[in-house]
Amino acid sequence: MSDLSDLTSFVGRQAEVDQAGRQLSVSRLVTLTGPGGAGKTRLATRLAQDYVDDARFIALDSLRDPGLLAQTVAAELGLRDVPDEPTSRVVEFLKDKSLLLVLDNCEHMVQACGTLVGKILDAAPDVRILATSRHVLGVGGEQLLPVNPLPVPQVRNGKLVGDSSAVTLFADRAAAAAPGFEVTEDNQETVVKICERLDGMPLAIELAVVWLRVLSLKELLARLDDRFRLLSRGEQTKPARHQTLGATVDWSYELCSPEEQALWSRLSVFDGGFTLAAAEAVTAFDSFEILSLIAGLLDKSVLIRDTAAMSRATGCWKPSGSTAWTGCAKPARRTSSVPATADTSSNSAARSPRNGSGTSNSSWSRKPAGNTRTCARPWISACPTATG
Ligand SMILES: Nc1ncnc2c1ncn2[C@@H]1O[C@H](COP(=O)(O)OP(=O)(O)OP(=O)(O)O)[C@@H](O)[C@H]1O
Ligand SMILES: [Mg+2]
Repeated sequence: MSDLSDLTSFVGRQAEVDQAGRQLSVSRLVTLTGPGGAGKTRLATRLAQDYVDDARFIALDSLRDPGLLAQTVAAELGLRDVPDEPTSRVVEFLKDKSLLLVLDNCEHMVQACGTLVGKILDAAPDVRILATSRHVLGVGGEQLLPVNPLPVPQVRNGKLVGDSSAVTLFADRAAAAAPGFEVTEDNQETVVKICERLDGMPLAIELAVVWLRVLSLKELLARLDDRFRLLSRGEQTKPARHQTLGATVDWSYELCSPEEQALWSRLSVFDGGFTLAAAEAVTAFDSFEILSLIAGLLDKSVLIRDTAAMSRATGCWKPSGSTAWTGCAKPARRTSSVPATADTSSNSAARSPRNGSGTSNSSWSRKPAGNTRTCARPWISACPTATG
C-alpha cells in the first residue's frame, strides 16, 4: 500500500474535502475527476489520511496491463497465495471489511477498474471506494467530484482578494526552490499573473517555480508564452507524466480515440471556449458526431462545460485548462486522418502549438475577432465568455 505521508505542504481544498465527506456518506463510490496535475491524487491522499475508518490507498498509475489489475489490488491489500482468480480473492477479502479503498489514477484502465469496483460494491456493503481518474468510471451510483485548478486571487488596492490557494502553493514551492523567496506587496501582482497564466494548475505551478533558481519573477512571467518548453524540468522522482507539462497532456491524449484526438487537434485553433457551430466550422464531422466526441472529451476531463457562457449561448465548452489546448500533442504526426474541412489544411488548426504554430506567416498572425487563435476564418463563432 502506498505511503500516505506528506513530503510537501497541502494547500486549500477545504470545500472539496467537505464535499467528498458528504458524497461518501451517501454514496459508496466517489470519483475525483479533473485534468492532469489538478490535484486529484493529492486530495485523495488527504481524504484517506483523514478517514475515520481504515483506509487503503492503491496507486495504479504505473500499472500498464488491465489484466493485472485484480492481482495488483490483491498484492496491495497484502493477500498472499492469490489463486488463478484474484478478483474473487479480493472480493472475498473485502466482503466483511469496513474501510475506504482508494484506487488512484484509474483513467488508463477504466473498464477494468469499473468491473472490479462493481464487484466489490456488490459484495462488500461496508466498503467505500474513492477513485481518482481523469476519465469517469461510468459505474452505476458513481458520484463525481470535479477537482478544478486552485483558485487564483485578485490584487485590489495592494491586497490579495479571494481564495489565495494558488499563490500559497506558489509561495511554498518557490521558497523551497529559491530559499528566502517570499510573496510581498511588491511582487504579489507578478505572482498572481503567473498563477493566472498557469490557470492555477498545481502541477504547472510546481514546474514553473523551479525556474526561480535562474530567473526573476518578471522573467519567468515573460517566458510563459513558451510554456511547453519552459515547464519541462520536473523532479526526476516524480512519475514521468509529471516531469513535463507536455507529458501530462500526452497522457490524456493517449486516452482518447483517434476521432477524439482529431477533434481535440482541430479545436486547438481556439484560445478558449467554443460553441458547436464553431467546432463544426473547423472540422468535417457532423453535429451529432461532434456532440458525441465532445461527450467523450468531457468524460476524459479534456473539456469542461462553460456554464457561464451556456446561460447566454447553447452548448459552450472550454479546455479544462488553457494548457490542455496548447498541448494538443504532436498533431502534425497524429492528425493525418483528421477530417478537416477543405480549406483548413494550411490553417493553424492543423499545426501543433508545441511544434511551433508558425504564426510568423503574416496571413496567420492577425488575431481575429472572438477567441480564435491566429485563425484563418474569423467568422467562427466563439463562446461569449471566452478571451477576446
Ligand atoms: N492542494 C494541493 N496542495 C499542495 N500541492 C498540491 C495540491 N494539489 C496538487 N498538488 C501538487 O501538484 C502536483 C500534481 O498533483 P496530483 O498528482 O494530485 O495531480 P493529479 O490530478 O492526480 O494528476 P494526474 O491526473 O496526472 O494523476 C503534485 O506534485 C501535488 O503534490
Ligand atoms: Mg493522480
